[in-house]
This record gives sequence, C-alpha cells and structure tokens, in this order.
Amino acid sequence: MKPVEIASGIYQVGVIDWNIRDFHGYSVEGTTYNAFLILDDTVVLIDTVKKEFADQLLANIAEIIDPKKIDMVISNHTEMDHSGGLPRVMHAIGGEKPLYCSKMGQKNLIQHFGDRLNLQALENGQEISIGSRTLSFLETRMLHWPDSMFTYIKEDQILFSSDAFGQHYAGYEMFDDQIGDAVMPYAKKYFANILLLYTPKILKLVEQITDMGLQIKIICPDHGILWRSNPETIINAYVEWSRQEAGKRAVVLYDTMWKSTRLMAEAIADGIAETGVAVRPIHIRSSHRSDIMTEVLDARAIVVGSPTLNNGLFPSVSDVLTYMKGLRPKNKIGAAFGSYGWSGESVKLLNEALADMKFDVMEESLKIQYVPDKKDLSACREYGRKIGQAVISRVG
Ligand code: FEO
Repeated sequence: MKPVEIASGIYQVGVIDWNIRDFHGYSVEGTTYNAFLILDDTVVLIDTVKKEFADQLLANIAEIIDPKKIDMVISNHTEMDHSGGLPRVMHAIGGEKPLYCSKMGQKNLIQHFGDRLNLQALENGQEISIGSRTLSFLETRMLHWPDSMFTYIKEDQILFSSDAFGQHYAGYEMFDDQIGDAVMPYAKKYFANILLLYTPKILKLVEQITDMGLQIKIICPDHGILWRSNPETIINAYVEWSRQEAGKRAVVLYDTMWKSTRLMAEAIADGIAETGVAVRPIHIRSSHRSDIMTEVLDARAIVVGSPTLNNGLFPSVSDVLTYMKGLRPKNKIGAAFGSYGWSGESVKLLNEALADMKFDVMEESLKIQYVPDKKDLSACREYGRKIGQAVISRVG
C-alpha cells in the first residue's frame, strides 16, 4: 500500500497483510495495520505495525519524509499487531524520541519490550500542541485492552480510534466511499469477534463522545477502511450491535457423527422456518467459529445440537461454546438437542452450557437414540416451531 494523504499533511502510512488467514483464531482473508503520519511543527507517527512489516512502514514513511524527522510516536494500543514494529521504528527514528501512551500502555509496553523505550504516560483528556494542531487523548480502557486509547485532532476533526470501528479487510480501497456497503459484513464480523463482550462499555463511550460534542469528520481505525463519507454509519452500527436486540432470526449450530444430529438440526430448522423466523442450520466443523459468532450476533435463538461422544459433548461443539461464552452474547433464547447411542449426556451438558451463558433456555429439549425415524423428525419440526414461536413472542 502506498501512503495516502487523508487530510492536509496527514498520511495513512500503514501496510496491507495480504496473506494472513488466522488472526489469533479469527479467520480472515488479509487485513491492514494502519499507521498515521502527521506533518506539523512536531512530526508525529500514530501507531506502528506488526513486527515483520516494520521496514515496510519505514519505507512508506520515507516516501513522505525522512523517518529521522519524526519527533514523537503515539501508541494507542499495546497489542503486537500495532506495537510489534515499535522497537525497530523507535531505533530508526533515533532512539530517545518520546513514545506517548496511556498509563496502562506504559505498563504494558514495558512488559512487552522492557524499559528501553522513552515512554511518556498521558493523562486521560491530556492535550499536546504540535504546532497548528492539538492532539487530545481519550482513554478507552478495555476497548479492547486495558491500555487502549483514542487520539483526536480537533482542528481536522479526525479520530484515531485504534481497534474500534476497524475491520479485517485487505484491499486497495482505503475509504468507506470507495468500498460502500460491502465493508459492513467485515465490520460486523470484527465487532462480533473482538468487541462483543464489551458492549456496555461501547454504549457508554458513544454517549461520552456525544456529550463531549466531539465533531468527527474522519474515523481512522487501525485495521481496514477509514470512515470519511459518513462516520455516523459505523457509530450507529456499533450502537445497534451493542444493544443486542436481535430480530426474528435463529441459528441452529450442530455437529454430527453419523448424520443423526444433522437430520435433527435440519428438521428443527424447518420447523423454525415454518413460523416465519429466519434460520440457518450450520454444521460447526464446516464453518469457522469466527463466522459462527457473526451469525450468533444476529440471532435471537441459539439452538445447539451435539451427539454424545464418550459421555460428553462432541469436541467441535465444546470449542464453539467455549469461544461463544468468552464473547458474552446477551438476550438470547437457548435450545438444545442431540442424538446418542447409549448414555446420552450431551443435551444435559448443552443445557448447562446455555444456562451458564445466561441464555433464556427453553424448558423442553430433544434427544433421540441412534437414528431419528419419521416420528422423531416430526417431533424435531414441532420443537423448531416452538422455538420459532418463542422468538416471535420475544421480538414481537
Ligand atoms: Fe489490532 Fe487489539 O489489536
């Protein structure tokens, strides 16, 4: 990616990682690590990139200015996709230059890189004049790390939002008006997999930004597309997703050994569909857990099926439930089903897992021994209809 001037004297100098497919367990088809260079009396770099892309970042900067002319670096977030390049960059621009970060950022950067960097901790709300512009800093703890913060330039009305409002998207488009609505599925998947567990904090943050009267012309996240044509689009989407008021939609997640649980899953989905509730049966082993989470975000009912294997759940089902639990989806109806041979513990275990996530678990669940016959499949369809009705009565 060549550097692009996003506002007068402000450049996106980050890199595209075309080849990444697994981002700490989240399936992606590439991403970007965005970094921003501000030319003013004081020359500022906001964030760096993953360690292996540090030289590419420096080459991008060198197309605009000698990297040694950078006077200060700001680290909005310590996670290594943005900080891995810091030691290399700090060395290249001349060792002792100040590296500004939040107080938690100072602590975390020392734990990542030792105390060799000239770290300068910022107060929440602190401002720094860099000549014709003023940078201000807003702590956004646990969005999504303890160290996370935003940097804002009031003169240009640009918000550098770190991971928030980002997407794992790799492409030559840089702005929302270049990609259009096609960016939204990437933004939603990112939200479902990175930010879902912090939704109460997101709602508070949006309220805080509104109360502060922060004028925002451009939102520059550290991944993917920058929001300049209508930044409200992504802010409003975050509010909507954070409320977790899913509509008339259900998802049937299952795995299967000899197709019995699959037959049950598809019959249950048929029954749900008959009630007018949108539904998708998803075979867990054919899908990635991060795509499943995007479906979960949109669904009011989470219906989970597992065969009993060695007195327990099928491993892929446990995997998804563990991942889902960590992301704390709210406001869901839970329902469980499964097939078994002789012991049949899976449905009980599923009900416990769904209750543990504070889902509103259906009183009825369904387990069928060995292979479902016609009567069993009819019971599955009836169970699906009951789930569909529960969704409708909840959603209206
Ligand atoms: Fe893109 Fe939390 O790092």
